[in-house]
Amino acid sequence: MASGANAVTSKVITQWNQKILFDILDMIHDVVLVIDSDTTIVYANQAYAEILGVPVQKVLGRRLDTIEPDAAVIRVQRTGGVIHNGRSYLTSVGIDVVGSMFPLYEEDQVIGSVAVFKNLSEVVHLTQELQRTKGVADHLQEQLNQRDGLPISFQEYIGQNSRLRETLKLAVKVARTESTVLIRGESGVGKEVLARAIHNCSRRSTKPLIKVNCAAIPENLLESELFGYEEGAFTGARKGGKMGKFELAHGGTIFLDEVGDMSLAMQAKLLRVLQEREIERVGGNKTIKLDLRVIAATNRDLDKMMDEGTFRRDLYYRLNIVPLYLPPLRERKDDIPALAEYYLKKCDQQFDSPSLTLSSGARELLQRYDWPGNIRELQNALEHAAIVSGGAYIEPQHLPANLWRDGKVVSEAPDSAYGMKDAVAKIERELIASALKKANGNRSQAMRVLGISRRAFYDKLKRYNLGQFDPSV
Ligand SMILES: Nc1ncnc2c1ncn2[C@@H]1O[C@H](COP(=O)(O)OP(=O)(O)OP(=O)(O)O)[C@@H](O)[C@H]1O
Ligand SMILES: [Mg+2]
Repeated sequence: MASGANAVTSKVITQWNQKILFDILDMIHDVVLVIDSDTTIVYANQAYAEILGVPVQKVLGRRLDTIEPDAAVIRVQRTGGVIHNGRSYLTSVGIDVVGSMFPLYEEDQVIGSVAVFKNLSEVVHLTQELQRTKGVADHLQEQLNQRDGLPISFQEYIGQNSRLRETLKLAVKVARTESTVLIRGESGVGKEVLARAIHNCSRRSTKPLIKVNCAAIPENLLESELFGYEEGAFTGARKGGKMGKFELAHGGTIFLDEVGDMSLAMQAKLLRVLQEREIERVGGNKTIKLDLRVIAATNRDLDKMMDEGTFRRDLYYRLNIVPLYLPPLRERKDDIPALAEYYLKKCDQQFDSPSLTLSSGARELLQRYDWPGNIRELQNALEHAAIVSGGAYIEPQHLPANLWRDGKVVSEAPDSAYGMKDAVAKIERELIASALKKANGNRSQAMRVLGISRRAFYDKLKRYNLGQFDPSV
């Protein structure tokens, strides 16, 4: 006896006629195709006719092995197997399809087979369209990532000065190559920041950037630091040996900072690595092949060192493939305001202070000073001022005393917004600094020259942060 559910189903089915079932099959987008044992098409829905581009009636009764001899639906008849979501190509119409094919049985006899498949051309077309759109999106993203033509890894690099921009543009170009780079510039100009930006913009960006400060490591340790060592290479050598910086940088970039401070002996060893692109650990005899990019930096005058014989010329040529020069801050004073603003914002976050502002006097002082310690000195001076001021407003006297070393009295008209207070402070500070300088640091003498009381003098000394004033500078 039929179960309840089956009874309902058979009742529904019997109420329907064949036509309705065929109408349903014609409504679906997937192809439904039935062939008999000699591959004659006994049923095909509308979707199949659409693929072939002919009415269904023209298809029925034709043999599939004459239309599509290699069709998977013919294969499953022969093998008796089933194909689930198989992909194939219909040569007759030149389209990719994906679908399932299975044989039809009647009492263990294969009497035909059925194919239900989907035309993939639409999916292929959509995928192509998606790729094209993605290409456009990537291009737009790339444009967004660039500011003034510089990629994102260079955006931390503050500076609009034209000479600096030339260097940065060249740096971007070279970053995408494998060339060795030599960065030159005074101390604190941002050589390390640039080396990082180059690495981050290169195809090695996901690999390590290993920095070696050639000046900070004692000569006798530098070799094992760079090349590593094998166990027992020397007394105190670690068990199992140790990898050197070159090995650690394998696949990535090695940044040889202060390369001008290497001894001639080490220079010879470095030259060998650059030529051979391989190393041997100290105390070892195995050669290790290396794949790395070299970025070197120095604040030394290598030309002079070569003339003096303290820097190898052959090493210089190996390193100086693409020279990048970072100008000192005094030669790009136009960048001081932007840099100052950047560092004051950093101080705001660091000290959790309200937004720090520079008085016009302070701004002027920053602009007048020569910054021998370059950006690092500017950064330190502003941090110093942020602490000393204790408030939101940075006045000249909050800046380090050495910024005042020329002792000149500022005579320009003060900024109207902070007029008197600023101007008086500026003049007072300069007068005191100048008196101290003239008196060779003798405070009593300076006090007399200025004609003010001891108490007022010491108050001002403190207020203007001149307690550590060094008259010799
Ligand atoms: N263009 C810049 N924008 C913002 N900060 C910078 C920039 N250049 C350098 N700095 C900052 O200045 C300081 C000094 O930079 P860096 O250490 O790269 O200089 P350097 O040339 O390697 O100096 P040294 O020769 O003394 O090693 C760092 O704190 C760095 O963050
Ligand atoms: Mg450095």
